[in-house]
Amino acid sequence: MVNTGVTLCGIPLDNPIIPASGTFGYGQEFAKLYDINLLGTFSFKGTTLHPRYGNPTPRIAESASGMLNSVGLQNPGVDKVISEELPALAKVFHKPVMANVSGFSVEEYAEVCRRFDACDQIGWLEVNISCPNVHDGGMAFGTDPHAAAAVTRAVRAVTKKPILLKLSPNVTDITEIARACEAEGADGVSLINTLMGMRFDLRSRRPILRNGTGGLSGPAVFPVALRMVWQVANAVSIPVVGMGGVSSADDVLEMMLAGASAVEIGASNLVNPYICRDIVAALPAAMERYGISSFESWIGGTKAWQET
Ligand code: FUM
Repeated sequence: MVNTGVTLCGIPLDNPIIPASGTFGYGQEFAKLYDINLLGTFSFKGTTLHPRYGNPTPRIAESASGMLNSVGLQNPGVDKVISEELPALAKVFHKPVMANVSGFSVEEYAEVCRRFDACDQIGWLEVNISCPNVHDGGMAFGTDPHAAAAVTRAVRAVTKKPILLKLSPNVTDITEIARACEAEGADGVSLINTLMGMRFDLRSRRPILRNGTGGLSGPAVFPVALRMVWQVANAVSIPVVGMGGVSSADDVLEMMLAGASAVEIGASNLVNPYICRDIVAALPAAMERYGISSFESWIGGTKAWQET
């Protein structure tokens, strides 16, 4: 009998499986498909101070073993999330949820987090400083250690809930950004957000995405994500949530071996809406296959190799 439980910033999870923000809405569509209480938790859609329609379409493009998106943070705004989405979620999900927060200024990040701080249903604040699809804000905060530090400091000042900064892979040294967040009081970091990419339509000679560029996710990015999770886990002392191209129980175990305390699953939900349910079900057998009775000594377990 294996133990799939983990702890994320002091909050216990039945298992490390967390559908990633932007691929699970506010939970309602998936709750119609299966009991979402079998998940560790999920991260809801990136929420901003004001409602947003997102970018003009097309905002999805296909790619080998992956996809590009340029959604542009479509969401109903923090007040509607608090007054409508969270009460509706309480009817179908009985665990602490992870709130994903986006912003266009340090003050906006802090204000959204301040409002979410009053919501008992929210366990963690995942502060997204890495959205590549908006022109002012988003990724601009996650590619400069001083800006990442400023957001972390401002958010830290308004909440006692655990804060995880969601990091961008579109940097030279992601460990520098992670350390800057840790120094300002982040309880954890999550990574990677999408890799900036683009596709052209050969007939129109224009980008397929109306926004020009978008974020690449899916199995194509898994080795890049794994490398960055491993680097960051070795650079900071706070928990790391790993994500990027995860699509099987074995991928989850590999992410955790690299140092992830929990694992988010994103693009795969759009290919198979049951993937997270199926991975939760497959995890105990996968753990047994590799002789893992619990995750305590497995997380970051590459250290023995590093010391040889
Ligand atoms: O464009 C979007 O809504 C995606 C956000 C993100 O990748 O952080």
